[in-house]
Amino acid sequence: ADEPLVLGIETSCDETGIGIVRGHTLLADALASSVDQHARFGGVVPEVASRAHLEAIVPTMQRALDEAKVTLADIDAIAVTSGPGLAGALLVGVAAAKGYALAADKPVYGVNHLAAHVAVDTLEHGPLPEPAIAMLVSGGHSSLLLVDDLTNGVTPLGATIDDAAGEAFDKVARLLGLGFPGGPIIDRTAREGDPASIAFPRGLTAPKDLAAHRFDFSFSGLKTAVARWVEARERAGEPVPIADVSASFQEAVCDVLTAKAIEACRTNGVQTLVIGGGVAANSRLRVLAEERAAKHGIEVRVPRPALCTDNGAMVAALGSRLVAAGVAPSRLDLPADSAMPL
Ligand code: KG4
Ligand code: ZN
Repeated sequence: ADEPLVLGIETSCDETGIGIVRGHTLLADALASSVDQHARFGGVVPEVASRAHLEAIVPTMQRALDEAKVTLADIDAIAVTSGPGLAGALLVGVAAAKGYALAADKPVYGVNHLAAHVAVDTLEHGPLPEPAIAMLVSGGHSSLLLVDDLTNGVTPLGATIDDAAGEAFDKVARLLGLGFPGGPIIDRTAREGDPASIAFPRGLTAPKDLAAHRFDFSFSGLKTAVARWVEARERAGEPVPIADVSASFQEAVCDVLTAKAIEACRTNGVQTLVIGGGVAANSRLRVLAEERAAKHGIEVRVPRPALCTDNGAMVAALGSRLVAAGVAPSRLDLPADSAMPL
């Protein structure tokens, strides 16, 4: 018999995503983004995001169904991100999922956004070896997770205590006058620069910090250090070497992220590291993670960039795993939970 056809809805931030998956196979991944509407604010504006989801949700649904050449009646289950994320944005997806589920008599699964970022890797690389360590790095989160079981056993090991990694990229790009979102621009700019030219701080790596924050991250001190360095240059009337600053900043972020991720693998006797979230698209992060993991026989799995950023496919991917594991669906009154724990 065919594996179940699962539709996933993602609206936790600024991307309206609807994906359709059968087993581990991606059939459709329709996306509408409000990123351009937030650009002039230098960050996502919750109210603007919610309105954009409302306008986009029905047409995106239609595009996904068309792309997969199926109708709503063919779908076996609907998964939706029910948290964590922006409350108003989440509500749009959850309300839509309930509406479609009720109209077409389908089970609905409320899923965790972070677990979905991990699950999406199965669409690219097949079943995830468990246990695995997952590092999720995006504009909204920076976490290290121990994944014993994707469907019901994901334990947080650490997270950022201030800015998320992507947020740091965005803020540094802004202070360098490079535009939003900053990650891809810094990634490109850094290619022309020397990553060893400026010694920026590595947050929470000093022995005294490691005791309480072994697997936590901190990027706000780094952002401030970059700002001070740039200000000092400007005060001295000297030009700011944008490429060198970008490369040195990026190196500091990637150094800490990969060092802690590999340490988490080694401490837990884990051989597989999955990296997800928008920052996983970073070219230096990929190279450094591979380099360091190889020394310890650890396999690094990073989905292609389009699957790393927020999308509907990741929600469908996790929904597909939940259905396959025989997990009971959510109740139709499932809430949106902006602070949903794992
Ligand atoms: O996962 P995502 O699309 O949305 C959130 O849940 O936040 O991640 C977006 C973040 C932004 O901060 C963006 O600057 C960052 O991911 N990003 C990157 C790169 N591409 C996107 N950061 C560093 N290097 C990149 N190539
Ligand atoms: Zn995300």
